[in-house]
Amino acid sequence: MRVDILTIFPDFFRGPLDYGIIRRARETGLAEVSIHDLRNFTKDKHRTVDDRPFGGGEGMVLKPEPIFECLESLGGLAPRAERINGSAKQSVIVLSPQGARLDQALAAELSTLERIVLICGRYEGVDDRVSEHLADREVSIGDYVLSGGELGAAVILDTVVRLIPGAVGNEASTRQESFTEQLFAGEGARATPESGPSSTCVSGGLLDYPHYTRPADFRGMAVPEVLVNGNHEDIRRWRRKTALAKTLRNRPDLLERVTLTDEDRELLDEVRSPQAGI
Ligand code: ADE
Repeated sequence: MRVDILTIFPDFFRGPLDYGIIRRARETGLAEVSIHDLRNFTKDKHRTVDDRPFGGGEGMVLKPEPIFECLESLGGLAPRAERINGSAKQSVIVLSPQGARLDQALAAELSTLERIVLICGRYEGVDDRVSEHLADREVSIGDYVLSGGELGAAVILDTVVRLIPGAVGNEASTRQESFTEQLFAGEGARATPESGPSSTCVSGGLLDYPHYTRPADFRGMAVPEVLVNGNHEDIRRWRRKTALAKTLRNRPDLLERVTLTDEDRELLDEVRSPQAGI
């Protein structure tokens, strides 16, 4: 995958590009990431990238010229209509709090593309002709306002690149994460009763269950007994129950969206009862 990031703070990306999975994906050629400084596409001596908004009001707006000229300099981009109708496996994205909210399904969709361009907004916004005529979509990373799109671009880069086959050492681990199972349902990701504990971490649209490693007793805090001594079936049931409990506590909205089995409902009743013990 090729990723181009358009920004007025190119140095911002030194950290995100140089560690962990992104770094390895770049080194192995799975992802080629280029950072473009929008100030290089200005024409005045102050390298101005922003201006006051028409109609008045607070703050500054990123000008359209540097963004259009930077994108046009990239080469290899398909016409906008082909990117939008999906015949070109490319997407040009503006980061904006007014965008469609990023979730795992959108990340999975983007990870199948050959090329993505991320345009980082700044100040009070970006001249809207960029969204209307140049970019294909606007994406927000959450319902809060950041001071710019750079953090959002880094988040998209991370969540998308790690879904490219081969980017994460154990591909099964990206499938087993919270939120992921429904995206891959039908591809055999669902645990079968015979497949034992290693496959029981698929949590079915719920938050993930808790994980522990050695030591079994750390400063008097013991790992749940069932994980140390339990059999596969007990572990599977405990993991499902704790995933349900965590989801009920932190993200009850997710419970509305998943199809619960009879066993799930039984486990939820246990969780809700005062003697839940987890
Ligand atoms: N720019 C400012 N806030 C943002 C958000 N929540 N997501 C993406 N880009 C942004």
